[in-house]
Amino acid sequence: MADSKHSIGDNGVRFKDKVAFVTGAASGIGRAIALAFATEGAEVIVGDMLEEEGVATVREIETSGGKAHFVKLDVSSLPEWHAAVQFALATCNGVDILINNAGISGTAFSEVLDVDAWHRLMSVNSDSAFLGTHCLVPVLRARGGGVIINMSSISAIRGQSNVHFGYNASKAAVHILSKSTAVQFGRDGIRCCSVHPGLMEPMRTSGNVKDPAVRAKFMERVPLGRTGVAADVVKPVLFLASDEASYITGVELYVDGGYLAG
Ligand SMILES: NC(=O)c1ccc[n+]([C@@H]2O[C@H](COP(=O)([O-])OP(=O)(O)OC[C@H]3O[C@@H](n4cnc5c(N)ncnc54)[C@H](O)[C@@H]3O)[C@@H](O)[C@H]2O)c1
Repeated sequence: MADSKHSIGDNGVRFKDKVAFVTGAASGIGRAIALAFATEGAEVIVGDMLEEEGVATVREIETSGGKAHFVKLDVSSLPEWHAAVQFALATCNGVDILINNAGISGTAFSEVLDVDAWHRLMSVNSDSAFLGTHCLVPVLRARGGGVIINMSSISAIRGQSNVHFGYNASKAAVHILSKSTAVQFGRDGIRCCSVHPGLMEPMRTSGNVKDPAVRAKFMERVPLGRTGVAADVVKPVLFLASDEASYITGVELYVDGGYLAG
C-alpha cells in the first residue's frame, strides 16, 4: 500500500494522479482544503449546495493550473450523493480521497432544544458523512483503497453552553463513524480519521459565536491564545490523507490550539 496510492511525487507533490472529493468546498475550510489538494497535484471534485461559490473555487484552482470540477450536492440527500458520485466516476474515472467537510453551525439556532434544528443538524452534519461513506466505499475498494477524512469538532468531545445539542451529537456521531469505518474497511486498504477543529473563523451559519464578547470568553480557554484559521486545518487533513500517514487510521486529531487539553 505505502508505495503506490498517495506517494510523494517527483516534485514533492503528494497527490499526483489522485482524485479528491471535498464536500462543503465552496467556502471556508473546505475551500482551503480543495485548493491545497489541487496545489499538491490532485484532481478535485468540489461538492456543495452553493453553485456560484463552488464554481468560483473551481475557477481559482484552474487559474493556478490545477484540475477541478463542481458538482451541486446537498450532502443530506442520498439521491444527490448517488448523482454526484456518478458525476465523479464519469469525469475523473474514480475517487481516492473523500473529505466529508460540509456542515452547519450549532449556533445557527436560538433554541437549543428545538426539534427541527436537531433533525437538520443530524442530517447535514452526520447523515452526510454516512451517506458519503456509503456511496464511496465501493469506489475506493475498486481502486484498491483510499482515505476518508471526516470533519468533526471539539463539540464532539465536550458539552457546551449556547450550542444546539444536535451539533454536539452530530459531531460525536461523525467521530465514532470514523472509527467504525477504519475498523470495518481497513482490510480493503481504506483508512479513515476524524479531524476536530476548535475555535475557528465563524461558519456561514454561525450565530452567537460571531459575537466578539462570546469569542473572547471562549478564547480564555484556548492555550495558544488565538483563533484557528483554515490553513491550520488544511495541513493536518492533507497529512492524514497522504501516504505519510499510511499506518494511521481510526484516530481523532484535535486542531484546537490546546482547548481540549485543559
Ligand atoms: N468554523 C468553525 O468554528 C468550526 C469549528 C469546528 C468544526 N468546524 C467544522 O468544519 C467544517 C467546515 O466549516 P467552515 O468553518 O468552513 O464553515 P462554512 O460555513 O464556511 O462552510 C461550510 C460549507 O458547507 C456547505 N454546506 C452546508 N450545508 C450543506 C449541505 N446540506 N450540502 C452541501 N454543502 C453544504 C456550505 O455551503 C459551506 O460551503 C464543518 O463541518 C464545521 O462543522 C468548523
